Amino acid sequence: MFSVYEVIKKKRDGNALSKEEIDFMVMGFVKGEIPDYQMAAFLMAVFFKGMTAEEAVNLTQCMVDSGEKVDLSAIKGFKVDKHSTGGVGDTTSLVLNPLVAASGGIVAKMTGRGLGHTGGTVDKLESIPGFQVELPKEKFVENVNKIHIALISQTADLAPADKKIYALRDATATVDSIPLIAGSIMSKKLAAGADGIVLDVKTGSGAFMEKYEDALALAKTMVDIGELAGRKMVSLITSMEEPLGFAIGNAIEVKEAIQTLKGNGPKDLEELCVNLGANMLFISGVASSMEDAFKKMRNAITDGSGLKKLKEMVEAQGGNPEAIDNTDLLPKAKEEIPVESPSDGFVRRIDALEVGLAAKALGAGREKKEDKIDLGVGIYLKKKIGDEVKKGEPLAIFHTSDEKKFAEAKRRFLASYEIGTERVDPPKFFYAKVDKNGVTEM
Ligand code: URA
Ligand code: CA
Repeated sequence: MFSVYEVIKKKRDGNALSKEEIDFMVMGFVKGEIPDYQMAAFLMAVFFKGMTAEEAVNLTQCMVDSGEKVDLSAIKGFKVDKHSTGGVGDTTSLVLNPLVAASGGIVAKMTGRGLGHTGGTVDKLESIPGFQVELPKEKFVENVNKIHIALISQTADLAPADKKIYALRDATATVDSIPLIAGSIMSKKLAAGADGIVLDVKTGSGAFMEKYEDALALAKTMVDIGELAGRKMVSLITSMEEPLGFAIGNAIEVKEAIQTLKGNGPKDLEELCVNLGANMLFISGVASSMEDAFKKMRNAITDGSGLKKLKEMVEAQGGNPEAIDNTDLLPKAKEEIPVESPSDGFVRRIDALEVGLAAKALGAGREKKEDKIDLGVGIYLKKKIGDEVKKGEPLAIFHTSDEKKFAEAKRRFLASYEIGTERVDPPKFFYAKVDKNGVTEM
């Protein structure tokens, strides 16, 4: 038996822990045998001294083993998943997954509702009339085997150790430690059962990892953890200096996803989906080269097969596929009100996080698990970084149903825009790709 004191001290002094020592700490804490104050000290020691790749893998595996593991073995073929470290107005899942499934990839995805500026993917999907985010296991398997895609709400208790440790990290200023974040994210992804995972690690003002160097270190650690666990991994590092696309909300993001599948979407969103999806196809083995993978993704937009796949999925999960052709059938806010620019000039900076909070203030996101989302509300941007704007021209259109919420959201939104007199270039979007062979700049 180990001593908790000795394990904390060993990490405090910068030494690497064995698998047994890590299991002892994590499982002792989960079972309530190790008190919060000792676990908090341990986490702070990890925060300052870091972990080796091997320690991070052992931590992750221990958290995976603390709960249920989704068994996707009844689904034939290579199951591929995507995870983003989170941004504002991130509509990718709704675009990317149908494109991948239409191009020969297999998407069996369980996803959370999420506490954020907007709902998670399943909340967004619920704005499609009739769409069932909860399917019995047999139906889930049947759908994926038949049409190669299902997106459902996660019910399994994945990595409960992570949940308990995260709550303590959140209260002790130990969230932003790369091995702890990597272990936290990857424990849930590994437990979700996919054979291959493509990560989108965001960097910039609206991201968890503001600095590129930190995003790169996080991406490398997660790729190592996944590969050592026998999964095929790729991570892209992309910009979150401003919200993705134009729409930030729920139903309005579904509408944006449909437009993108038709080839009329915002270019940043389309390019991100094509890039992430091409990597998903390549690691799935359904594309012979990256060039072929890109071609398949672009074809699925131009020939309409991605849009058709979304409709098939909606129908297979009880939704009304007509809502995809006629988006007037989606929930709508009471009013659409333009928010005007206070001055002439060029958009120099947008605080993406603040724009997200403005959308949340309109009612697009939830604070607590029990809160209800207003699926119709949201923000539709008219100007992004680099755009010229005249005083009185709309910076955005607010989809709103409540005057008081509108006022607060508008105040937040206007504070998040910086308008200058000089012309500025749009921010760089793609930074790098990380896989088992190393880092490639993009
Ligand atoms: N997201 C997670 O799931 N875990 C972290 O630690 C940070 C972000
Ligand atoms: Ca968007």
